This record gives sequence, structure tokens and C-alpha cells, in this order.
Amino acid sequence: MFRNRILKIVLVLFSLVVTSLSGQVSAKKFDDLALTPPMGWNSWNTFGCEINEKMIREMADIMLSSGMKEAGYQYINIDDCWHGERDENGNIQVNAQHFPSGMKALADYVHSKGLKLGLYSDAGWKTCGGKPGSRGYEFQDARQYAAWGIDYLKYDWCNTEGLNAEGAYLTMRDALYKAGNPIVFSICEWGDNQPWEWAKDIGHLWRTSGDIINCWNCEHKHLVGTENEWSSWGILKILDMRHNIRQYAGPGHWNDMDMMEVGNGMSKLEDQSHFTMWAMLASPLIAGNDLRDMSKQTLATLTNKDVIAINQDILGIQGFKYHTANGVDVWLKPLANGRWAMAVLNRNDDAVDFNFDFIEQGVIVDELSGKKIDLKNTRHQIKNVWNNKMLGDTTRPLQKKIQGHETLTLILSI
Ligand code: GLA
Repeated sequence: MFRNRILKIVLVLFSLVVTSLSGQVSAKKFDDLALTPPMGWNSWNTFGCEINEKMIREMADIMLSSGMKEAGYQYINIDDCWHGERDENGNIQVNAQHFPSGMKALADYVHSKGLKLGLYSDAGWKTCGGKPGSRGYEFQDARQYAAWGIDYLKYDWCNTEGLNAEGAYLTMRDALYKAGNPIVFSICEWGDNQPWEWAKDIGHLWRTSGDIINCWNCEHKHLVGTENEWSSWGILKILDMRHNIRQYAGPGHWNDMDMMEVGNGMSKLEDQSHFTMWAMLASPLIAGNDLRDMSKQTLATLTNKDVIAINQDILGIQGFKYHTANGVDVWLKPLANGRWAMAVLNRNDDAVDFNFDFIEQGVIVDELSGKKIDLKNTRHQIKNVWNNKMLGDTTRPLQKKIQGHETLTLILSI
């Protein structure tokens, strides 16, 4: 007995000595980041490659002055095309014309506003925009990002022929960890390799679809007839693209339905539906519009406190489709303190009369989380979050006209 214990102590000491001599720290994902879905802004949807440091500073300024920061938005994410060439030692540099003060100065500026800065790279040899990718430079790039003070990395999947997705994302995860600066790692391989099945310990979020586009239910094809043909997708298409993956989402690891198109040309009701559904599915809320010239309406949509609270709920349970008929979906999401969110999405172009008898539903059980709501025996107050009005309680059936493309969004609480 005593000898065994001595032997154990000797073995532990031996492994400690070996580890410290070899300088090895075993890598992992940064824990305790993105415990609720990340909220921020990203340059791609509106600006593509037309980006520069002045506008990034302005976005940071507006985050504060508009009240978005106060509402929970935190990350200013620079997407593709910030890159210059690698220097003679292989270090990645910024495009000096567009970012003359350099990335460290920009990060310092963003941090001085109490915000965080995100960057973009690619697991292949080139990014989707044709800039230098990180393949073969993962550890060097990660050290560079850490030296600049970067807080978030979106890592894309163009030009990755012959690479294994899990392996490639694991390599970058390890590189980021070893570089030492806590960083949210955003996996962007469009759901092609089912990252929800393997990425929980690798990244904090993973895209579930190809790129979003600012329309309700369209598919927009690119490079038609070539071997590189691809599509971008409207709001409903992204919503419908994946089934049965909600069990993979939770604090620190989210299904990412892509950066939002709120304020980019859809109608007010479509924008609100889009925002509601991203909230219900616990997707990251990354605005993709030009914050400097958004309308009051767009700002009101992006900063609706109740919808954000649905998204940022501490339990981190992704919502689920409870019922669907005649183009009208009812989605539910259990929230903390026994509250539930309910979203009634009218997918149709025309208005519908929606009738819902809460009592008839009885006890609704979410098998995944084990959460229950007893609508038969317990009276719940109903708040309509888009007009900030109480709608009575669940003892009476709900009768409501819902416009085409509108989502009636409710919070039920005792
Ligand atoms: C891919 C990504 C987009 C964006 C572009 C940049 O298409 O899915 O979100 O980052 O690349 O080139």
C-alpha cells in the first residue's frame, strides 16, 4: 500500500520534470469564452474587400454612441482582405495602404473603447478573397495575432484541397492556444464536414451553411456552370438547411447561422423575423450592415432587449420547431427562471389569422433539455417583444393576425 503510494508520487514527479524540460504545454480550446453566443459586427456582408482602418475605427465608435455596446455587442470583426504579403521571414503583414497604422494600433484603439477585435484567415494556402492563407504558417500566424492582441479569429475553408477539416481546425486551435492570448475561434467551413460532430473541443462556433444573402427565401448561384459553382442563401433557406443539430449547441459552442443581413435591404418585418430566428436558434448575433448609416428602425431591431435576452439566455439551449402548418411555424426556446420564448413565423407572403389555444397544449416537454412548461395548469403572462406590450395570459386562446414574413415573438413567464 505504502510502496504503491510512493511509486505513484515518483511517477507524477517524473512526468512533471519531463513536461517542464520539454517545455510542452498540452494545447486545448480556450475555455470560458463565448458562454453565450458572440455578439458583434463583421465587415464582409456590406463591404467585402473594401475595408480600411478608418472605417473599422468608425464602427467601433458607433458601437458605443448608438447603444449597441450597451445592448451586448462586443466584437468588431475584420473579415477577408486585411492582409498584405508575408515578409521575408514569412510573417503575415497588413495591407499597409488600407491599414497604415498597423493592426496593433487598431486593436489598441478598439480595446480602448471596451470592445474586442476579430480577424479572418483561412486554413488553405489562400483565403477566399485570394489573400495569403495560414496553411503551413499556423503557429507563426497565431503568434502574430496574439502579439497584435486579437480576440477572435474566423477561419475559412477556401483552397484547402487535400486537407482534413478536423485536423486543420485542430492545428489552428493548438496554435492559438500556444500563442497564449485568449481568442474566440470561429470555424467557417460552411457545414460541409459536419463540424458540430467534432468541433465542440476545437472551436466556439461553427457555420452551418454557405454564405447568407439579403433576401427572404432565395438561392443566389455564383460561377454557374463552372466546377466552382456555389450558392448564397436567403433567411428561410439557412433556417431550413440543418435539422437535428440543436443538441450540439450550448455554452461555449454554437451553431452559427452566419453574419446577419439586418439593415441590408429587406423589409422591417423580414429583418425582425431574421433577428428573432437567429436569437431563437442561439446563433451568434454578428451584424453585417454599415453601422454608420443605419436607420432608427434597423438600430431598434438590432438592439431589442428582449430578443437579445432570448439569444443570450444563460442556459444556452437552442430553440426547436414545435409545430408547423400552412406555412406558419411555432418555435419554442426554454429560458432561465422557467420562462419560455415562442416565435410564430409566418413564412407566407400573405397575412394569416393565427389561433393558438395554450391550455390545449397541456405540458410541453423539451426532451433534450428536460425543461417543461405546463400550459394547462399554470397561468403564464405573455409579452409581445416587438411592440413591447403585454398580451394577456395563457388562460385564453391567442388570436392574432400575423403579416406575411412577420414573426410574432413572445416571452411566456409565470
Ligand atoms: C467565405 C465565407 C464568408 C466570407 C468570405 C470572404 O465565403 O463564408 O463569410 O468570409 O469567404 O472571402
